[in-house]
Amino acid sequence: MKKMLDGELGSGTQIAAEMITALAKIYDADGFLPVKSSQISGVSYKNIGEAGIEFLESLRSGDARARVRATLNPCGLDLDSWRELGFPEAFYRDQARVLDAYNALGIEMTCSCTPYLLGNCPAKGDHVAWSESSAISYANSVLGAMTNREGGPSALASALTGFTGNFGLHLEKNRIPRQSVVIRCNIESYLDFGTLGLMLGKKLGQDVPFITGLKKEHCTPENLRQLGAAMAASGAVALYHVDGVTPEAKKHAVSIKKGEITIPSMEISELDEIVDVVPAKKDVAGALKVDMVFLGCPHYSRQDVMDILEGLRGKKLHATLWIATARTVKKSILEDTDLTRQLDPRIKIVSDTCIVVCPIDALGIKSVVTNSGKAYFYLKNNESLAVVYRDTQACIESALSGTVAIGRRT
Ligand code: F3S
Repeated sequence: MKKMLDGELGSGTQIAAEMITALAKIYDADGFLPVKSSQISGVSYKNIGEAGIEFLESLRSGDARARVRATLNPCGLDLDSWRELGFPEAFYRDQARVLDAYNALGIEMTCSCTPYLLGNCPAKGDHVAWSESSAISYANSVLGAMTNREGGPSALASALTGFTGNFGLHLEKNRIPRQSVVIRCNIESYLDFGTLGLMLGKKLGQDVPFITGLKKEHCTPENLRQLGAAMAASGAVALYHVDGVTPEAKKHAVSIKKGEITIPSMEISELDEIVDVVPAKKDVAGALKVDMVFLGCPHYSRQDVMDILEGLRGKKLHATLWIATARTVKKSILEDTDLTRQLDPRIKIVSDTCIVVCPIDALGIKSVVTNSGKAYFYLKNNESLAVVYRDTQACIESALSGTVAIGRRT
């Protein structure tokens, strides 16, 4: 770090080292730790704008380069199909400037929020510096890696220096659960896990929960991705433990039984009361015409995408269906011409972006149905959008019919 701080490795690296040092000081870090990888958010031009580009270019002109593996979050459009999907050319040009700047810094142009499906998959106990709240949650909780809830700039600074401050979730003492969550209702489906996550995030804020009452067979990687993404959206939960499921749960279950820490308990029984499916302010009644069905938040794996597509062979859609995934997954699926010939052209396998970080208003979309708790949470703040949260099967039915019934979820 000293050489970097002294500017011996260039002014860009010096800026990054100063950022890491300042954060370490603010959080009273116990020195610095080398990190194995970074995942960097703050990529969509819609979110970072000119100020973000200026910052990236200041690092680039100072010769900074990634010193560890560093992957990138989704950007504001699909880099292959932006024209076909209706994105404005001016936005494409601005987005390209952002990506050029990251590329020049040596960041991999993965443009996905599930880096752990793309080879940037830390092992248990690895220290990493990730931003993207859903990926942070998955890395800490499901993989057992150790990362703080970094912002885009601090994750980038770690990529450029190879270090982070030793504080927060890098320390074992901060990974101990502070809240016990007892589940007394059936949490089975993808939607259930998202709803539970939305509710828990609100209640927990930043606390680390120890969750009991979830059945192991329902805790699939997909459902845990959805749970963590939703908890990190409605709250700031960066780590959770699930009894009998997640890698650090065993040692913490022992701590709880011994009563070494005080854990207020929380019961969950009326999930349907927690999430209202259609924002009350939207003036819709009965059946809503659906412009878009959105699946793939967090980005789907290849298997997730194939499961959806297999059920849609030869069927006609009446609403656009976006399925968000990584570019490599999209490419491999589109190469299967036998499959794609049988798919309605309204099915769009979309890579590099998602409905939350893209400029959705520019696409003329007025109503969305999604199965993602996180996407629902952010989209419902858009005043010009009607947003409906349904399970995956109901989403598919909406894509086929072009409508969705309004009311409590079924
Ligand atoms: Fe990923 Fe976008 Fe959801 S970045 S986690 S698909 S909001």
